[in-house]
Amino acid sequence: MGLFHCPVGAAYYDDEECIDCGMCYAKTSAERVEASKKIRAYFQAHAARNAVPRKIALCGKGGVGKSTMTALLARALRAEGNRVLVLDTDESNPGLYRLLGLEREPRYLISLRKRDPGAIELDGAWLDREQIALDDIPAEFAAGGNGFRFMMIGKIEDPFQGCACSMANVVKEFMEKLTLGDGEIVVIDMEAGVESFGRGVERFVDTILAVVEPSYESMALAGKIAYMAQGMGIGRIGAVLNKVPTENVRARMAEELGKKGVKVVGTILFDPGLNEAGFEGRPIASEDSAREDIQGIVKSLFE
Ligand SMILES: Nc1ncnc2c1ncn2[C@@H]1O[C@H](COP(=O)(O)OP(=O)(O)OP(=O)(O)O)[C@@H](O)[C@H]1O
Ligand code: SF4
Ligand SMILES: [Mg+2]
Repeated sequence: MGLFHCPVGAAYYDDEECIDCGMCYAKTSAERVEASKKIRAYFQAHAARNAVPRKIALCGKGGVGKSTMTALLARALRAEGNRVLVLDTDESNPGLYRLLGLEREPRYLISLRKRDPGAIELDGAWLDREQIALDDIPAEFAAGGNGFRFMMIGKIEDPFQGCACSMANVVKEFMEKLTLGDGEIVVIDMEAGVESFGRGVERFVDTILAVVEPSYESMALAGKIAYMAQGMGIGRIGAVLNKVPTENVRARMAEELGKKGVKVVGTILFDPGLNEAGFEGRPIASEDSAREDIQGIVKSLFE
């Protein structure tokens, strides 16, 4: 294992950050499993526990409704008087800013970390600070205003552009440094699947919401997400059932997730209005039927 990937951030074996988990020198799969257990136990013992959610990541299988839920949740939190930052960390899908009612994308955060010889010189000093407050983020990187802002990590746009590791690293760095005060919340739209967990991108969030649709794969992945989030020491983990057609399906999904130890925090029914907005790539309407359901989810998160 390369030192670069040390899960606790040690620069080399035996430096002061090293917890001697054994991953560096594991030679067998049994030794690697033992090292993973030590890492898991370490994160669980050292997790920062916030009394209320401040950094909420929406995760789940592709297409389950993470971006839709991000937009709904952000709007509900803003309506309750919070200052909300939405962070788009999906390096593929382009349309979240449209769902949020914005006309233009902000500048990508990755542009501060990528050496692009043709790019204009950008002042990235704010990203190098040890702590970053919402007001430290320049307007060109955070669109919106009036208590609601939107940031994008970046998108893969060209063939042979390279892998998305650098984007994952900048998300982790930004999340670690972002310091939120009372009534300030960041809602993070994650890329589909669990690769980000493998990279430890969610390490600095305090709340994981797995969005789950009525499919075996989606529910299986929610169980895996909960397991991985626990292994990172994240204290608040729940599932939001989405695109649910009937009460019977809701009950079956809740039962299945219960067997996996995943708590359901709310349900959004299949909503033709939401589907239409997604189809047309336009902002979610304020009168959509999910409004009350999402208010219930916010209430349950803050209880
Ligand atoms: N409750 C719902 N009722 C009806 N349609 C929905 C609902 N939630 C989401 N959709 C639709 O499902 C599709 C996928 O939603 P969305 O893009 O939010 O998923 P995602 O998890 O972010 O996908 P990806 O993994 O590709 O990022 C969209 O067309 C959206 O409009
Ligand atoms: S032994 Fe574990 S904690 Fe120490 S440097 Fe290697 S991976 Fe990191
Ligand atoms: Mg999405």
